Amino acid sequence: MTAASWVQLGYLLVAVCFILALKGLSSPQHARRGNLIGAVGAVLACVIVFFSAPLDHLLPIMIAIAIGTAIGVVGAYRVKMTAMPQLVALFNGVGGGAAAIVALVELRTLTASGAAVIDLIATVFTILIGSISFAGSIVTFLKLQEWMTTRPVIFLGYPIVYVACLLAAIGTAVGVVLAPSVGVGSLLALLGLALGVLLVLPVGGADVPIVISLLNAFTGLSVAATGYVFQNLLLLVAGTLVGAAGTLLTILMARAMGRSLISTLFGALRGGSTLGSTKLSDRPVKSAQPGDVAMMLGYAGRVIIVPGYGLAVAQAQHTLQQLVEVLQQRGTRVDYAIHPVAGRMPGHMNVLLAEAQVPYPQLKEMTEINGDFAQTDVVLVVGANDVVNPAAETDPAAPIYGMPILKVADAKQVIFMKRSMRPGFAGIENELLYAPTTSLLFGDAKDTMAKLLTEVKAL
Ligand code: TAP
Repeated sequence: MTAASWVQLGYLLVAVCFILALKGLSSPQHARRGNLIGAVGAVLACVIVFFSAPLDHLLPIMIAIAIGTAIGVVGAYRVKMTAMPQLVALFNGVGGGAAAIVALVELRTLTASGAAVIDLIATVFTILIGSISFAGSIVTFLKLQEWMTTRPVIFLGYPIVYVACLLAAIGTAVGVVLAPSVGVGSLLALLGLALGVLLVLPVGGADVPIVISLLNAFTGLSVAATGYVFQNLLLLVAGTLVGAAGTLLTILMARAMGRSLISTLFGALRGGSTLGSTKLSDRPVKSAQPGDVAMMLGYAGRVIIVPGYGLAVAQAQHTLQQLVEVLQQRGTRVDYAIHPVAGRMPGHMNVLLAEAQVPYPQLKEMTEINGDFAQTDVVLVVGANDVVNPAAETDPAAPIYGMPILKVADAKQVIFMKRSMRPGFAGIENELLYAPTTSLLFGDAKDTMAKLLTEVKAL
Protein backbone atom coordinates (compact mmCIF):
# COMPACT_ATOMS: atom_id res chain seq x y z
CA MET A 1 0.00 0.00 0.00
CA THR A 2 1.29 3.50 -0.85
CA ALA A 3 1.76 6.27 1.71
CA ALA A 4 -1.21 8.13 0.16
CA SER A 5 -3.46 5.10 0.74
CA TRP A 6 -2.37 4.94 4.40
CA VAL A 7 -3.25 8.59 4.77
CA GLN A 8 -6.72 8.00 3.27
CA LEU A 9 -7.20 5.03 5.59
CA GLY A 10 -6.18 7.21 8.54
CA TYR A 11 -8.71 9.85 7.47
CA LEU A 12 -11.40 7.17 7.31
CA LEU A 13 -10.55 6.10 10.85
CA VAL A 14 -10.77 9.72 12.03
CA ALA A 15 -14.15 10.12 10.30
CA VAL A 16 -15.41 6.99 12.12
CA CYS A 17 -14.15 8.51 15.42
CA PHE A 18 -16.12 11.72 14.73
CA ILE A 19 -19.30 9.79 13.90
CA LEU A 20 -18.96 7.65 17.05
CA ALA A 21 -18.30 10.84 19.05
CA LEU A 22 -21.56 12.39 17.83
CA LYS A 23 -23.43 9.19 18.62
CA GLY A 24 -21.94 9.13 22.15
CA LEU A 25 -22.79 12.79 22.73
CA SER A 26 -26.46 12.11 22.02
CA SER A 27 -27.06 10.73 25.52
CA PRO A 28 -25.78 11.86 28.95
CA GLN A 29 -24.72 8.29 29.82
CA HIS A 30 -22.25 8.06 26.91
CA ALA A 31 -21.35 11.74 26.48
CA ARG A 32 -17.97 11.49 28.24
CA ARG A 33 -16.92 8.53 26.10
CA GLY A 34 -18.18 10.31 22.95
CA ASN A 35 -16.15 13.40 23.82
CA LEU A 36 -13.02 11.32 24.38
CA ILE A 37 -13.43 9.46 21.06
CA GLY A 38 -13.86 12.82 19.28
CA ALA A 39 -10.71 14.20 20.93
CA VAL A 40 -8.72 11.10 19.94
CA GLY A 41 -9.98 11.52 16.35
CA ALA A 42 -8.94 15.19 16.32
CA VAL A 43 -5.42 14.43 17.62
CA LEU A 44 -5.07 11.60 15.09
CA ALA A 45 -6.15 13.96 12.30
CA CYS A 46 -3.51 16.54 13.31
CA VAL A 47 -0.78 13.88 13.48
CA ILE A 48 -1.68 12.47 10.03
CA VAL A 49 -1.72 15.92 8.43
CA PHE A 50 1.53 16.89 10.14
CA PHE A 51 3.44 13.86 8.92
CA SER A 52 1.88 13.52 5.47
CA ALA A 53 1.71 17.08 4.12
CA PRO A 54 4.80 18.75 2.59
CA LEU A 55 5.56 21.41 5.21
CA ASP A 56 7.64 24.42 4.14
CA HIS A 57 7.53 26.56 7.27
CA LEU A 58 8.10 24.07 10.04
CA LEU A 59 9.21 26.57 12.72
CA PRO A 60 6.21 28.93 12.55
CA ILE A 61 3.92 25.89 12.35
CA MET A 62 5.47 24.39 15.50
CA ILE A 63 5.20 27.75 17.29
CA ALA A 64 1.53 28.09 16.26
CA ILE A 65 0.79 24.53 17.47
CA ALA A 66 2.52 25.23 20.80
CA ILE A 67 0.63 28.51 21.34
CA GLY A 68 -2.70 26.95 20.30
CA THR A 69 -2.17 23.92 22.56
CA ALA A 70 -1.21 26.11 25.54
CA ILE A 71 -4.24 28.39 25.09
CA GLY A 72 -6.57 25.39 24.59
CA VAL A 73 -5.32 23.41 27.59
CA VAL A 74 -5.09 26.36 30.01
CA GLY A 75 -8.44 27.74 28.79
CA ALA A 76 -10.22 24.40 29.16
CA TYR A 77 -8.76 23.75 32.63
CA ARG A 78 -9.55 27.21 33.92
CA VAL A 79 -12.98 27.81 32.43
CA LYS A 80 -15.85 27.54 34.85
CA MET A 81 -18.74 25.27 33.92
CA THR A 82 -20.98 28.36 33.64
CA ALA A 83 -18.61 30.00 31.13
CA MET A 84 -18.45 26.93 28.86
CA PRO A 85 -20.89 28.34 26.24
CA GLN A 86 -18.68 31.39 25.74
CA LEU A 87 -15.68 29.12 25.24
CA VAL A 88 -17.63 27.04 22.72
CA ALA A 89 -18.67 30.24 20.89
CA LEU A 90 -15.01 31.34 20.74
CA PHE A 91 -13.78 27.95 19.50
CA ASN A 92 -16.52 27.93 16.88
CA GLY A 93 -15.60 31.43 15.71
CA VAL A 94 -11.93 30.51 15.47
CA GLY A 95 -12.87 27.51 13.28
CA GLY A 96 -14.85 29.71 10.88
CA GLY A 97 -12.13 32.37 10.84
CA ALA A 98 -9.43 29.77 10.11
CA ALA A 99 -11.46 28.34 7.21
CA ALA A 100 -11.89 31.87 5.78
CA ILE A 101 -8.14 32.62 6.04
CA VAL A 102 -7.20 29.30 4.42
CA ALA A 103 -9.64 30.02 1.58
CA LEU A 104 -8.18 33.52 1.10
CA VAL A 105 -4.66 32.08 0.85
CA GLU A 106 -5.89 29.41 -1.53
CA LEU A 107 -7.49 32.11 -3.67
CA ARG A 108 -3.98 33.30 -4.56
CA THR A 109 -3.10 29.86 -5.95
CA LEU A 110 -6.43 29.59 -7.76
CA THR A 111 -5.96 33.09 -9.24
CA ALA A 112 -2.56 32.11 -10.63
CA SER A 113 -3.63 28.75 -12.01
CA GLY A 114 -6.93 29.67 -13.73
CA ALA A 115 -9.17 27.53 -11.55
CA ALA A 116 -12.50 25.86 -12.34
CA VAL A 117 -15.58 27.98 -11.58
CA ILE A 118 -16.90 25.44 -9.07
CA ASP A 119 -13.65 25.65 -7.07
CA LEU A 120 -13.90 29.44 -7.04
CA ILE A 121 -17.53 29.27 -5.88
CA ALA A 122 -16.54 26.94 -3.02
CA THR A 123 -13.65 29.26 -2.07
CA VAL A 124 -15.84 32.37 -2.13
CA PHE A 125 -18.48 30.54 -0.05
CA THR A 126 -15.84 29.65 2.56
CA ILE A 127 -14.47 33.20 2.77
CA LEU A 128 -17.95 34.70 3.22
CA ILE A 129 -19.53 32.14 5.55
CA GLY A 130 -16.31 31.63 7.56
CA SER A 131 -16.01 35.40 8.20
CA ILE A 132 -19.71 35.68 9.13
CA SER A 133 -19.25 32.81 11.55
CA PHE A 134 -16.11 34.36 13.07
CA ALA A 135 -17.58 37.83 13.65
CA GLY A 136 -20.99 36.48 14.71
CA SER A 137 -19.36 34.14 17.22
CA ILE A 138 -17.32 36.99 18.72
CA VAL A 139 -20.49 39.07 19.25
CA THR A 140 -22.19 35.97 20.72
CA PHE A 141 -19.19 35.56 23.05
CA LEU A 142 -19.51 39.20 24.18
CA LYS A 143 -23.24 38.73 24.83
CA LEU A 144 -22.75 35.49 26.77
CA GLN A 145 -19.90 36.98 28.79
CA GLU A 146 -22.21 39.95 29.42
CA TRP A 147 -19.47 42.30 28.22
CA MET A 148 -22.16 43.90 26.08
CA THR A 149 -25.91 44.16 26.48
CA THR A 150 -27.76 40.88 26.03
CA ARG A 151 -30.81 42.74 24.71
CA PRO A 152 -31.41 43.02 20.95
CA VAL A 153 -29.42 45.94 19.55
CA ILE A 154 -30.77 47.84 16.58
CA PHE A 155 -29.71 51.30 15.49
CA LEU A 156 -31.46 53.76 13.25
CA GLY A 157 -31.16 52.64 9.62
CA TYR A 158 -30.15 49.10 10.63
CA PRO A 159 -32.27 47.38 7.93
CA ILE A 160 -30.76 49.59 5.20
CA VAL A 161 -27.19 48.96 6.38
CA TYR A 162 -27.91 45.22 6.62
CA VAL A 163 -29.43 44.92 3.12
CA ALA A 164 -26.67 47.12 1.65
CA CYS A 165 -23.97 44.88 3.19
CA LEU A 166 -25.77 41.75 2.00
CA LEU A 167 -26.08 43.02 -1.58
CA ALA A 168 -22.47 44.25 -1.57
CA ALA A 169 -21.31 40.82 -0.31
CA ILE A 170 -23.26 38.98 -3.03
CA GLY A 171 -21.93 41.38 -5.71
CA THR A 172 -18.34 41.04 -4.45
CA ALA A 173 -18.66 37.24 -4.30
CA VAL A 174 -19.80 37.15 -7.94
CA GLY A 175 -16.94 39.53 -8.78
CA VAL A 176 -14.35 37.19 -7.22
CA VAL A 177 -15.72 34.22 -9.19
CA LEU A 178 -15.67 36.15 -12.48
CA ALA A 179 -12.29 37.85 -11.95
CA PRO A 180 -10.49 36.17 -9.04
CA SER A 181 -8.22 38.44 -7.00
CA VAL A 182 -6.98 38.35 -3.43
CA GLY A 183 -7.78 42.05 -2.98
CA VAL A 184 -11.47 41.62 -3.83
CA GLY A 185 -11.48 38.38 -1.81
CA SER A 186 -10.25 40.37 1.22
CA LEU A 187 -13.04 42.91 0.67
CA LEU A 188 -15.49 39.99 0.69
CA ALA A 189 -14.04 38.83 4.02
CA LEU A 190 -14.54 42.32 5.47
CA LEU A 191 -18.15 42.37 4.28
CA GLY A 192 -18.58 38.90 5.84
CA LEU A 193 -17.28 40.25 9.17
CA ALA A 194 -19.74 43.16 9.01
CA LEU A 195 -22.60 40.78 8.16
CA GLY A 196 -21.66 38.50 11.07
CA VAL A 197 -21.85 41.42 13.52
CA LEU A 198 -25.12 42.70 12.01
CA LEU A 199 -26.61 39.19 12.08
CA VAL A 200 -26.14 38.69 15.82
CA LEU A 201 -26.64 42.24 17.18
CA PRO A 202 -30.47 42.20 16.92
CA VAL A 203 -30.80 38.76 18.46
CA GLY A 204 -32.39 38.96 21.89
CA GLY A 205 -30.81 37.31 24.92
CA ALA A 206 -33.15 34.37 25.06
CA ASP A 207 -32.56 33.52 21.39
CA VAL A 208 -28.77 33.36 21.62
CA PRO A 209 -28.79 29.52 21.91
CA ILE A 210 -30.40 29.26 18.46
CA VAL A 211 -27.80 31.59 16.95
CA ILE A 212 -24.92 29.64 18.52
CA SER A 213 -26.17 26.49 16.79
CA LEU A 214 -26.64 28.34 13.50
CA LEU A 215 -23.11 29.76 13.57
CA ASN A 216 -21.85 26.29 14.41
CA ALA A 217 -23.57 25.00 11.26
CA PHE A 218 -22.00 27.89 9.27
CA THR A 219 -18.51 26.95 10.45
CA GLY A 220 -19.12 23.31 9.51
CA LEU A 221 -20.30 24.25 6.03
CA SER A 222 -17.34 26.57 5.41
CA VAL A 223 -14.91 23.84 6.51
CA ALA A 224 -16.68 21.32 4.23
CA ALA A 225 -16.34 23.75 1.30
CA THR A 226 -12.59 24.10 2.06
CA GLY A 227 -12.40 20.30 1.99
CA TYR A 228 -13.96 20.33 -1.47
CA VAL A 229 -11.47 22.89 -2.78
CA PHE A 230 -8.49 20.98 -1.36
CA GLN A 231 -9.97 17.60 -2.32
CA ASN A 232 -9.43 16.70 1.34
CA LEU A 233 -11.69 13.89 2.51
CA LEU A 234 -11.16 14.65 6.20
CA LEU A 235 -12.16 18.33 6.02
CA LEU A 236 -15.12 17.40 3.86
CA VAL A 237 -16.40 14.74 6.28
CA ALA A 238 -15.69 16.70 9.48
CA GLY A 239 -17.22 19.89 8.04
CA THR A 240 -20.31 18.07 6.81
CA LEU A 241 -20.80 16.41 10.21
CA VAL A 242 -20.53 19.75 12.02
CA GLY A 243 -22.75 21.44 9.43
CA ALA A 244 -25.42 18.74 9.68
CA ALA A 245 -25.30 18.52 13.48
CA GLY A 246 -25.42 22.34 13.79
CA THR A 247 -28.37 22.57 11.39
CA LEU A 248 -30.32 19.88 13.26
CA LEU A 249 -29.55 21.53 16.60
CA THR A 250 -30.69 24.91 15.22
CA ILE A 251 -34.00 23.39 14.11
CA LEU A 252 -34.51 21.57 17.43
CA MET A 253 -33.61 24.64 19.52
CA ALA A 254 -35.88 26.89 17.45
CA ARG A 255 -38.71 24.37 17.85
CA ALA A 256 -38.15 24.11 21.62
CA MET A 257 -38.27 27.92 21.88
CA GLY A 258 -41.38 28.17 19.68
CA ARG A 259 -39.45 30.32 17.19
CA SER A 260 -38.86 30.40 13.47
CA LEU A 261 -35.30 31.11 12.40
CA ILE A 262 -36.41 34.21 10.49
CA SER A 263 -38.16 35.70 13.53
CA THR A 264 -35.11 34.89 15.68
CA LEU A 265 -32.73 36.68 13.34
CA PHE A 266 -34.92 39.54 12.21
CA GLY A 267 -37.77 39.66 14.75
CA ALA A 268 -36.23 42.60 16.61
CA LEU A 269 -36.50 44.70 13.44
CA ARG A 270 -40.21 45.03 14.10
CA GLY A 271 -39.62 46.71 17.45
CA GLY A 272 -37.56 49.78 16.41
CA SER A 273 -34.49 50.88 18.36
CA THR A 274 -33.67 48.68 21.33
CA LEU A 275 -30.42 50.27 22.38
CA GLY A 276 -30.22 50.93 26.11
CA SER A 277 -31.58 48.85 28.91
CA THR A 278 -34.99 48.40 30.49
CA LYS A 279 -35.62 50.48 33.53
CA LEU A 280 -36.56 48.13 36.32
CA SER A 281 -39.39 49.17 38.59
CA ASP A 282 -38.90 49.72 42.32
CA ARG A 283 -42.28 48.27 43.37
CA PRO A 284 -42.31 46.39 46.65
CA VAL A 285 -41.91 42.61 46.68
CA LYS A 286 -42.67 40.03 49.36
CA SER A 287 -39.42 38.73 50.78
CA ALA A 288 -39.24 35.66 53.00
CA GLN A 289 -36.73 34.15 55.45
CA PRO A 290 -35.41 30.58 55.23
CA GLY A 291 -37.61 29.62 58.21
CA ASP A 292 -40.82 30.77 56.41
CA VAL A 293 -39.90 28.93 53.22
CA ALA A 294 -38.99 25.79 55.20
CA MET A 295 -42.52 25.78 56.68
CA MET A 296 -44.10 26.11 53.22
CA LEU A 297 -41.96 23.34 51.77
CA GLY A 298 -42.08 21.05 54.80
CA TYR A 299 -45.88 20.90 54.86
CA ALA A 300 -46.50 20.83 51.09
CA GLY A 301 -47.88 17.73 49.42
CA ARG A 302 -46.36 18.51 46.03
CA VAL A 303 -43.28 20.61 45.24
CA ILE A 304 -41.67 21.38 41.88
CA ILE A 305 -38.11 22.70 41.64
CA VAL A 306 -37.25 24.96 38.69
CA PRO A 307 -33.46 25.12 38.30
CA GLY A 308 -31.82 27.86 36.23
CA TYR A 309 -28.53 29.51 35.44
CA GLY A 310 -28.15 30.88 39.01
CA LEU A 311 -28.09 27.32 40.40
CA ALA A 312 -25.04 26.62 38.23
CA VAL A 313 -23.38 29.89 39.27
CA ALA A 314 -23.95 29.18 42.96
CA GLN A 315 -23.03 25.47 42.62
CA ALA A 316 -25.91 24.72 44.97
CA GLN A 317 -27.03 21.52 43.21
CA HIS A 318 -25.70 19.14 45.89
CA THR A 319 -27.39 20.98 48.78
CA LEU A 320 -30.55 21.27 46.70
CA GLN A 321 -30.66 17.51 46.17
CA GLN A 322 -30.14 16.95 49.91
CA LEU A 323 -33.13 19.23 50.55
CA VAL A 324 -35.20 17.26 48.03
CA GLU A 325 -34.28 13.99 49.76
CA VAL A 326 -35.32 15.37 53.17
CA LEU A 327 -38.64 16.54 51.72
CA GLN A 328 -39.21 13.13 50.12
CA GLN A 329 -38.54 11.45 53.44
CA ARG A 330 -41.30 13.67 54.88
CA GLY A 331 -43.67 12.30 52.22
CA THR A 332 -43.62 15.25 49.80
CA ARG A 333 -43.66 14.51 46.08
CA VAL A 334 -40.83 16.50 44.45
CA ASP A 335 -39.92 16.84 40.77
CA TYR A 336 -37.51 18.99 38.82
CA ALA A 337 -38.96 20.94 35.86
CA ILE A 338 -36.39 21.30 33.06
CA HIS A 339 -36.78 24.08 30.50
CA PRO A 340 -34.93 23.36 27.22
CA VAL A 341 -32.89 26.58 27.41
CA ALA A 342 -32.45 26.92 31.18
CA GLY A 343 -28.83 27.77 31.95
CA ARG A 344 -26.45 28.74 29.17
CA MET A 345 -26.02 25.62 27.04
CA PRO A 346 -28.19 22.76 25.80
CA GLY A 347 -28.62 20.18 28.56
CA HIS A 348 -26.97 22.47 31.16
CA MET A 349 -29.44 21.61 33.93
CA ASN A 350 -29.32 17.89 33.15
CA VAL A 351 -25.54 17.87 33.47
CA LEU A 352 -25.63 19.96 36.65
CA LEU A 353 -28.22 17.76 38.35
CA ALA A 354 -26.55 14.56 37.16
CA GLU A 355 -23.47 15.81 39.06
CA ALA A 356 -25.61 15.86 42.22
CA GLN A 357 -26.80 12.27 41.51
CA VAL A 358 -30.42 13.32 40.90
CA PRO A 359 -32.20 10.23 39.52
CA TYR A 360 -32.99 10.80 35.83
CA PRO A 361 -36.76 10.02 36.11
CA GLN A 362 -37.10 12.90 38.59
CA LEU A 363 -36.23 15.38 35.80
CA LYS A 364 -39.38 16.31 33.87
CA GLU A 365 -39.30 18.05 30.50
CA MET A 366 -41.32 21.26 30.15
CA THR A 367 -44.05 19.70 28.00
CA GLU A 368 -44.38 16.81 30.43
CA ILE A 369 -44.75 18.90 33.60
CA ASN A 370 -46.46 22.12 32.52
CA GLY A 371 -49.94 20.70 33.23
CA ASP A 372 -48.93 19.81 36.82
CA PHE A 373 -48.21 23.32 38.16
CA ALA A 374 -51.91 24.01 38.83
CA GLN A 375 -51.94 21.08 41.30
CA THR A 376 -48.65 22.07 42.94
CA ASP A 377 -48.42 23.59 46.42
CA VAL A 378 -44.99 25.19 46.17
CA VAL A 379 -42.66 25.89 43.25
CA LEU A 380 -39.05 26.60 44.24
CA VAL A 381 -37.36 28.62 41.48
CA VAL A 382 -33.61 28.36 42.06
CA GLY A 383 -31.65 30.89 40.00
CA ALA A 384 -34.07 30.80 37.08
CA ASN A 385 -35.79 33.83 35.63
CA ASP A 386 -36.41 34.07 31.86
CA VAL A 387 -37.69 30.49 31.62
CA VAL A 388 -40.59 31.32 33.97
CA ASN A 389 -41.19 34.92 32.86
CA PRO A 390 -44.86 35.40 31.85
CA ALA A 391 -43.80 38.28 29.54
CA ALA A 392 -43.06 35.50 27.01
CA GLU A 393 -46.83 35.03 26.78
CA THR A 394 -48.21 38.46 27.55
CA ASP A 395 -45.86 41.14 26.21
CA PRO A 396 -45.39 41.20 22.43
CA ALA A 397 -42.60 43.78 22.82
CA ALA A 398 -40.53 41.48 25.07
CA PRO A 399 -37.48 39.88 23.41
CA ILE A 400 -38.60 36.49 24.78
CA TYR A 401 -42.18 36.85 23.44
CA GLY A 402 -43.34 33.55 21.93
CA MET A 403 -40.88 31.37 23.88
CA PRO A 404 -42.73 28.61 25.74
CA ILE A 405 -42.25 28.98 29.51
CA LEU A 406 -42.70 26.82 32.59
CA LYS A 407 -46.17 27.74 33.86
CA VAL A 408 -45.02 28.41 37.40
CA ALA A 409 -47.64 31.15 37.93
CA ASP A 410 -50.36 28.44 38.05
CA ALA A 411 -49.00 27.04 41.35
CA LYS A 412 -50.39 27.99 44.77
CA GLN A 413 -47.07 29.43 46.05
CA VAL A 414 -43.90 30.44 44.21
CA ILE A 415 -40.53 30.99 45.92
CA PHE A 416 -37.73 32.67 43.97
CA MET A 417 -34.20 32.14 45.24
CA LYS A 418 -32.01 34.92 43.79
CA ARG A 419 -29.60 37.56 45.03
CA SER A 420 -31.29 40.77 43.90
CA MET A 421 -34.01 42.19 41.65
CA ARG A 422 -31.67 42.02 38.65
CA PRO A 423 -33.24 40.50 35.54
CA GLY A 424 -32.23 37.28 33.80
CA PHE A 425 -30.20 36.91 30.60
CA ALA A 426 -32.86 38.57 28.40
CA GLY A 427 -32.55 41.72 30.54
CA ILE A 428 -36.26 42.21 31.18
CA GLU A 429 -38.51 42.65 34.17
CA ASN A 430 -40.33 39.56 35.48
CA GLU A 431 -43.88 40.39 36.65
CA LEU A 432 -44.06 37.08 38.51
CA LEU A 433 -41.68 38.50 41.13
CA TYR A 434 -44.44 40.95 42.16
CA ALA A 435 -47.34 38.45 42.16
CA PRO A 436 -49.26 38.03 45.46
CA THR A 437 -48.44 34.32 45.51
CA THR A 438 -44.68 34.92 45.10
CA SER A 439 -42.10 35.24 47.88
CA LEU A 440 -38.42 36.02 47.38
CA LEU A 441 -35.67 34.35 49.34
CA PHE A 442 -32.74 36.68 48.67
CA GLY A 443 -29.11 35.60 48.79
CA ASP A 444 -26.56 33.45 47.02
CA ALA A 445 -28.39 30.19 46.30
CA LYS A 446 -25.67 28.08 47.97
CA ASP A 447 -25.87 29.95 51.28
CA THR A 448 -29.65 30.24 51.38
CA MET A 449 -30.08 26.61 50.30
CA ALA A 450 -27.88 25.48 53.21
CA LYS A 451 -29.98 27.57 55.66
CA LEU A 452 -33.17 26.21 54.13
CA LEU A 453 -31.92 22.65 54.50
CA THR A 454 -31.10 23.21 58.18
CA GLU A 455 -34.56 24.72 58.79
CA VAL A 456 -36.42 21.90 57.01
CA LYS A 457 -34.42 19.27 58.94
CA ALA A 458 -35.40 21.02 62.18
CA LEU A 459 -39.18 20.87 61.46
P1 TAP B 1 -31.68 33.64 33.67
O1 TAP B 1 -32.94 34.14 33.08
O2 TAP B 1 -30.39 34.13 33.12
O3 TAP B 1 -31.76 34.00 35.23
C1 TAP B 1 -30.76 33.58 36.10
C2 TAP B 1 -31.12 34.11 37.48
O4 TAP B 1 -30.20 33.55 38.40
C3 TAP B 1 -31.01 35.61 37.57
O5 TAP B 1 -32.28 36.13 37.85
C4 TAP B 1 -30.04 35.85 38.73
O6 TAP B 1 -30.61 36.83 39.59
C5 TAP B 1 -29.97 34.49 39.41
N1 TAP B 1 -28.66 34.18 39.96
C6 TAP B 1 -27.44 34.34 39.38
N2 TAP B 1 -26.48 33.95 40.22
C7 TAP B 1 -27.09 33.52 41.35
C8 TAP B 1 -26.62 33.00 42.59
N3 TAP B 1 -25.30 32.83 42.82
N4 TAP B 1 -27.52 32.65 43.52
C9 TAP B 1 -28.84 32.83 43.30
N5 TAP B 1 -29.34 33.32 42.15
C10 TAP B 1 -28.47 33.66 41.19
O7 TAP B 1 -31.60 32.05 33.68
P2 TAP B 1 -32.63 30.96 33.13
O8 TAP B 1 -34.00 31.19 33.69
O9 TAP B 1 -31.94 29.66 33.33
O10 TAP B 1 -32.75 31.27 31.58
C11 TAP B 1 -31.67 31.05 30.70
C12 TAP B 1 -31.49 32.26 29.78
O11 TAP B 1 -30.23 32.16 29.12
C13 TAP B 1 -32.54 32.31 28.72
O12 TAP B 1 -32.80 33.66 28.38
C14 TAP B 1 -31.86 31.57 27.57
O13 TAP B 1 -32.38 31.84 26.30
C15 TAP B 1 -30.45 32.12 27.70
N6 TAP B 1 -29.45 31.25 27.08
C16 TAP B 1 -29.60 29.91 27.16
C17 TAP B 1 -28.70 29.09 26.53
C18 TAP B 1 -28.96 27.61 26.58
S1 TAP B 1 -28.70 26.73 25.30
N7 TAP B 1 -29.44 27.07 27.68
C19 TAP B 1 -27.58 29.63 25.85
C20 TAP B 1 -27.42 31.02 25.83
C21 TAP B 1 -28.38 31.83 26.46
P3 TAP B 1 -29.66 37.67 40.58
O14 TAP B 1 -28.60 38.29 39.78
O15 TAP B 1 -30.61 38.65 41.22
O16 TAP B 1 -29.14 36.70 41.59
